[in-house]
Amino acid sequence: MSDPVWRITLADVAIGEEERQAVDEALCSGWLSMGPRTEQFERALCEELGSPHVLAVTNGTAALHLAAAALGLGPGDEVIVPALTFVASAAGVRQTGASIVLGDSLSVDDFALDPSEIDRLAGPRTRAVVILHYGGNPADVDALLAAAARHDLFVIEDAAHAIGATIGGRACGTFGDAGCFSFFPNKNMTTAEGGALVMRDAHAADRARRLRSHAMTTLTWDRHRGHASSYDVVDLGFNYRIDELRSALGIVQLSRLHGFNAARGKLAMRYSERLVGNERIFLPAQGGRGVSAHHLVVALAESQLLRDSLRASLRSAGIQTSVHYPAISRFSAYAGIPAVVPRAEEIAARALTLPLHPGLTDADVDLVCDTLLAALAEG
Ligand SMILES: Cc1ncc(COP(=O)(O)O)c(C=O)c1O
Repeated sequence: MSDPVWRITLADVAIGEEERQAVDEALCSGWLSMGPRTEQFERALCEELGSPHVLAVTNGTAALHLAAAALGLGPGDEVIVPALTFVASAAGVRQTGASIVLGDSLSVDDFALDPSEIDRLAGPRTRAVVILHYGGNPADVDALLAAAARHDLFVIEDAAHAIGATIGGRACGTFGDAGCFSFFPNKNMTTAEGGALVMRDAHAADRARRLRSHAMTTLTWDRHRGHASSYDVVDLGFNYRIDELRSALGIVQLSRLHGFNAARGKLAMRYSERLVGNERIFLPAQGGRGVSAHHLVVALAESQLLRDSLRASLRSAGIQTSVHYPAISRFSAYAGIPAVVPRAEEIAARALTLPLHPGLTDADVDLVCDTLLAALAEG
């Protein structure tokens, strides 16, 4: 296959003069590692999320690992993870030495973790469950939290898709013990690489804050300002610090987030208007709970064969697509992991992610839909 030149890409960043200026100012400030801009970014995230305990970190995977470590998960513990998520939801937890079991999706119309899977899978070693707000659509948090509470489990929200999503006015990522965000360039806002961790409990947040920076009791920035002159190391820590360039970018992107999400929402609506009533592919409702962040538009084809042929037609027209996600149970490194997840595997075989980002035009969406509908008519 030759390298395609995409007419319409799956995702794109929206970087303007304000971002360029903010990064340039950070670069010229003389202080590049975590410092005042990171503090400002974290305050802005606290306000956006309505939580007092938010840490900006190197990436979303680091946020997941840090969450699991700060909650004290480790060897001998077991964690329930959805089979239909990005592999980082599982890897972040496994990096603590905890083992995982995979849980199934609710249905082909709602890909989120089925709350009854928590009852099915929880055993004496189970300590936590990871839940994903798939595609930025709020998961059934009430039912998932209730099931987790029945088994005394921590809840780690993978909110990588869900910055700006809410249920009853409350931000996704703040319902569980920890919430993990990614600001990778294909996300609803970006810091290039980057992420954030929300912790519900103040002590766990302090622990996460220390683990982020080698479990040292003071930061380079504290010592620079003369607030401390030495430090102790109180745990086995990591270096998951973000930096000032990324934080500067994050501050501007966060100020634009609601505009980005509104633009995504309008485009998602256009897709559903154009594709409604089609018998061979449909756009699952994904529960229809709360306010979606509209991270992804995912169609479900009637079969894997049809999905693959639609992908090929779109590719020939220069339209990039993807699959969110291959089920984790199918990866070689996860071969030994317990997984009875037929619905997740079926979704993975039939799902087709269509282009969505705030820079798309209505004409772009129409081109994607026209191409899809023509391919369906031919097939
Ligand atoms: C669902 C999900 N979880 C976790 C991550 C990991 O985030 P990052 O790429 O910032 O490490 C991503 C993004 O790539 C994701 O989509």
